[in-house]
Amino acid sequence: MITTRNNDLLLQNIDPSESFPVSFEQLEQAAQEKMGKGAFGYIHSGAGREETLQKNVSSFSKYAIVPRFLNDVTELDTSVQLFGRTYATPLFIAPVGVQKIAHEDGEIATAQAAASLGIPFIQSTVSSYCIEEVTEATGNSPKWFQLYWSSQNEDISYSMVQRAEAAGYEAIVLTVDTVMLGWREEDVNNQYSPLMQGFGKANYVNDPVFMASLPNDDDDSIIQGIVDNIYHPSLSWKQVVELKKRTSLPILLKGILHPEDAKLAIENGIDGIIVSNHGGRQLDGVVASIDALRAVVEAVDGKIPVLFDSGVRRGSDVVKALALGADAVLVGRPFVYGLAVGGQQGVEKVLSNILQEMKVTISLSGITSVRDLRNVTIVKR
Ligand SMILES: Cc1cc2nc3c(=O)[nH]c(=O)nc-3n(C[C@H](O)[C@H](O)[C@H](O)COP(=O)(O)O)c2cc1C
Repeated sequence: MITTRNNDLLLQNIDPSESFPVSFEQLEQAAQEKMGKGAFGYIHSGAGREETLQKNVSSFSKYAIVPRFLNDVTELDTSVQLFGRTYATPLFIAPVGVQKIAHEDGEIATAQAAASLGIPFIQSTVSSYCIEEVTEATGNSPKWFQLYWSSQNEDISYSMVQRAEAAGYEAIVLTVDTVMLGWREEDVNNQYSPLMQGFGKANYVNDPVFMASLPNDDDDSIIQGIVDNIYHPSLSWKQVVELKKRTSLPILLKGILHPEDAKLAIENGIDGIIVSNHGGRQLDGVVASIDALRAVVEAVDGKIPVLFDSGVRRGSDVVKALALGADAVLVGRPFVYGLAVGGQQGVEKVLSNILQEMKVTISLSGITSVRDLRNVTIVKR
């Protein structure tokens, strides 16, 4: 239990000298002003006609909390228990690759910001800084590693997982919805690929198994090696089961939307799932992530943790996802924009605003712990 005494969080945030953008829309605009067209397009856009990208956000307004009053909400316990550990808040940093396109300090800044707020950082395979660099910068703050399966040479996957384990990372997130990149028109329009520009190579160039697999160690061979490995259409339950045998860390599957896949994950010994559609960047027209959550939670029936992302823009979105049964919630684009606008401090500001609105929303709903959010009445319009 990590209980904090509620203060009036709004009034604490009224500071005439403060000028950081608060709403997601303002934040996005400020980030756009800081970034080149290609980099901003890569972050903000989605796949296809961006139907899913938009629905991810708009669908939150279909769900409404029905608050209870006259409960004593002086204290609030924000902690969650996952895989035998206690985390201070139900917020996580979603794995986002190539963060140097947003800010030179990339994942180092984000991981340090997360550490300062006790929020676990999930590091992408295609990071701009490697596992060991992030560890050196953040010590033993909670970190998980997101794995993109390596199709050409599975030993590269096992090697990265081992490195994460050796560095003290606490779980492995295997992303299952990106066997190939989604059809992202804005990137084609802008003729922009951060992967091809080498922004996501840090974990690869520091991996002995990957480097030994290349014909040469020049830049072109490295980029070609990454592009070849990241395309992994043959990924199936067989590799998932094998991966499970290769690590003692809990494994979560990220990108689950169908209740039957959730059941298969349990049958195959998986430790947790993340309901996500990759922020509308992969399969366009797919169900909004928040609309998929409840059925997955029901299918899982408490057997393993269910985490959630895609479309979270503010603290009240976090609360709705938790009320619909998520055990924790990942924040994506908002922190990336915070990074672009203000580096580590920008990420801290964005996360802190989300966290504070989350706390206010829980307390105003008449609830005193994240755990009890399950019991809140939520109606669908
Ligand atoms: C610029 C960008 C890069 C991303 N890179 C990865 C990645 O490397 N691995 C991964 O599993 N998901 C990646 N994602 C997806 C996020 O983990 C998360 O699912 C998504 O951002 C949620 O949608 P939202 O940001 O709209 O809330 C990326 C998302 C963005 C916006």
